[in-house]
Amino acid sequence: MTVLRWRPAAPTDVDALAELFGACEQSDPVGLDLELDQLRARLAMPGLDLARDTLVAEDAGRIVAYGETADMGTGPGVLRIRLTNVVDKSARDQATRRLHDWLIERASQLRKEREPDLPAMLGTRCGAGDPERLQLLTEAGFSVVRWKWTLVRDLNAPVPATPAPAGIELVPFDQRYDEQTLLAHNEAYADDQTAMIPDGESWPSHATGLPTFLPDASVLALAPDEPDGNPVIGFLFTLDHVDVDVDGRPAVLLHCLGTRPSWRRRGLASAMIGNALSACRAAGHHRAELHVGGDNEEAVRLYTRLGFADTGRGHAILTCPLPTDR
Ligand SMILES: CC(C)(COP(=O)(O)OP(=O)(O)OC[C@H]1O[C@@H](n2cnc3c(N)ncnc32)[C@H](O)[C@@H]1OP(=O)(O)O)[C@@H](O)C(=O)NCCC(=O)NCCS
Repeated sequence: MTVLRWRPAAPTDVDALAELFGACEQSDPVGLDLELDQLRARLAMPGLDLARDTLVAEDAGRIVAYGETADMGTGPGVLRIRLTNVVDKSARDQATRRLHDWLIERASQLRKEREPDLPAMLGTRCGAGDPERLQLLTEAGFSVVRWKWTLVRDLNAPVPATPAPAGIELVPFDQRYDEQTLLAHNEAYADDQTAMIPDGESWPSHATGLPTFLPDASVLALAPDEPDGNPVIGFLFTLDHVDVDVDGRPAVLLHCLGTRPSWRRRGLASAMIGNALSACRAAGHHRAELHVGGDNEEAVRLYTRLGFADTGRGHAILTCPLPTDR
């Protein structure tokens, strides 16, 4: 067994981290950033002190583990801290527990520094293929808030033609509707406690500003006469899923789908998915993936009806209160 060398991460680690994250996503996906730009932005995140909030382990010069505590802001009476624990399969025995202990210790320091009068809520993700870490987290007091599962669909299977509701136009993503799409997104996801609710600044990095964003395979549903003046009533964002190319056959990720509440159960999401899948197939993609919450029964039924199948791959989102006396 080699001895791992531990040190804080540095901005120059971006390539090595992309390699580590890519390998981990291949074997046990939890939705890590994979693009170099995303990783650069992650390491430069405001408020992240690389020297104190990150830890990497090297094995003969290769990064095999990455840990990070991130202040995700103050919710109602609680400081939210995200813990990232990414370990190459080969180093799990040596690195997972050490990183876990360091993350809890660092999170407790972070709470004292940032919000000494508030309790903290710790949040983390764990792949379904890592039962040992899942057990470690459960024993440490974490509980699963939600499972997210990966569904897949072969694009060569016929795509069902679902018409959009009468009077609704489906168009490829159009930058002119960007601001209105953000409003529609936040309305669609308002009731989802674990969803990201972006503001104007973070919106581009959610989907539409990512280098992998595929505007022509993404869909906006427009209703010209919406009473609130926002014509965007539904959206579907598609990303190039470079990490899951199979035999050189490119895949896509249906990354984010929503219908504003007053337009639901009229076939809009089915029509947007049908439209996007046809565009993906026409562009030469062979396979579509998506992630869905196990408790989102409406969405799971919808995807299953449209030919998506469970892969058995997925991840849990877990939280744990960190009391003020820690
Ligand atoms: C999940 C979501 C996108 C579905 O959008 P939608 O536009 O209501 O979807 P559809 O209308 O195509 O299908 C929903 C149901 O309505 C039914 N339906 C379709 N047309 C209908 C009609 N004219 N009359 C009655 N029901 C109808 C569909 O058969 C489907 O039923 P099912 O439960 O048997 O699958 C929407 O609920 C949403 O935005 N949720 C919040 C965000 C979210 O969870 N996104 C998915 C993340 S993975």
